[in-house]
Amino acid sequence: MEAKTCVGGGGTAIASRARDAIALDRPLPIGSVPTPALLVDAAALERNLERMAAHARAKDIALRPHTKTHKCPLLAKRQMDLGAVGVCAAKVSEAEVMIDAGIEAVLVTSPVVTQDKIARVVALARRSREFQIVVDNAAAASALADAARSAGVSVGVLIDLDPGMGRTGISPGAPALELLRHLARLPALRFEGLQCYAGNVMHVNGWEERRRRSLQALERAIETKTLMERAGFEVRAFTGGGTGTFDIDCDVAAFTDLQVGSYLFMDVGYRRCGGRGGSVFDDFEPSLFVLATAISKPQAGYITIDAGFKALSADSGVPDLYDTAGVVYKWGGDEHGILVLEAPSRPIELGDQVTLIVPHCDPTVNLYDVFHPHRDGVVEELWPITARGKSQ
Ligand SMILES: Cc1ncc(COP(=O)(O)O)c(C=O)c1O
Repeated sequence: MEAKTCVGGGGTAIASRARDAIALDRPLPIGSVPTPALLVDAAALERNLERMAAHARAKDIALRPHTKTHKCPLLAKRQMDLGAVGVCAAKVSEAEVMIDAGIEAVLVTSPVVTQDKIARVVALARRSREFQIVVDNAAAASALADAARSAGVSVGVLIDLDPGMGRTGISPGAPALELLRHLARLPALRFEGLQCYAGNVMHVNGWEERRRRSLQALERAIETKTLMERAGFEVRAFTGGGTGTFDIDCDVAAFTDLQVGSYLFMDVGYRRCGGRGGSVFDDFEPSLFVLATAISKPQAGYITIDAGFKALSADSGVPDLYDTAGVVYKWGGDEHGILVLEAPSRPIELGDQVTLIVPHCDPTVNLYDVFHPHRDGVVEELWPITARGKSQ
């Protein structure tokens, strides 16, 4: 473990590669946190983590949480402590951060094809026998196998199946079986299973419709598993699924583990797509917020805050206000948001803070160096987002 760094007054001029919690030299009430800042309700976060872990235990399915959401080794370790069998990383550089932090079982969920990335993959496989990566192309698999053989290392691989999304993955059925036969001729690669992540169904509106679409998207992947087993191959892992289907895919017998990511924070995008219990997806609580400050009031009925495109990812619409009803956020550019004060449930004056539920958690997290976790309104430490910007 690295020694705890100590910084004053909520200053975030910290070593961005820190991995452990950074103690503040004095507790910081939320009202004194410099904004915009990424705030975490530590108790809500912990409830989300424990809820998902309990769900997985009850359903007898493993968790392999995706670290692309939080990019924070400290949170990955908490997920492992709660029973996860490993974690996912979107890219090689994200996996490097997790392995540097001592997490051995890391699955890279995107394929690599270039020699530089292949060399880094081989280096990771040398460091951890539990490291895995997906493949979806025979030539790229051969290149990986060549590099692994030269280095005297074996690499665990999963075949990534395209669930009909057209993003990554090989087509299920015969093309996937053909790729597996190819892998079987490459002794430097160990075939360990299948990945099928139906990202296109995660935010389908309404739980019933999402369930229908998820089961449909997985059908051919499940058939492919059977096809491979009938051909004499052992398919140990079948991994995929996300927050939107956490209570759907857990009942699909083929799955060995779920790659849930957003559940620990939740965001506006997930909340509005509805859950099993109704029109708001509230199985997990919002625990991630952007804290902003009202800084200007050039027109009546509006107030401008210091959080715009550089503070909030804009791909999934606008943030919701967490602590105030009757106010709508409008983008005000890179640095600003404009609050439309329709019928505010409390007055918002210059200098006041507002708490925003983020539209989309993953890309918002990637905008910050640290989380400000608070307990009962007081921040005592910062959590470094060590893999921030690690999208290589
Ligand atoms: C391959 C893969 N698995 C899992 C996840 C996690 O999904 P979610 O954040 O919806 O839980 C993602 C998110 O994009 C992903 O790309």
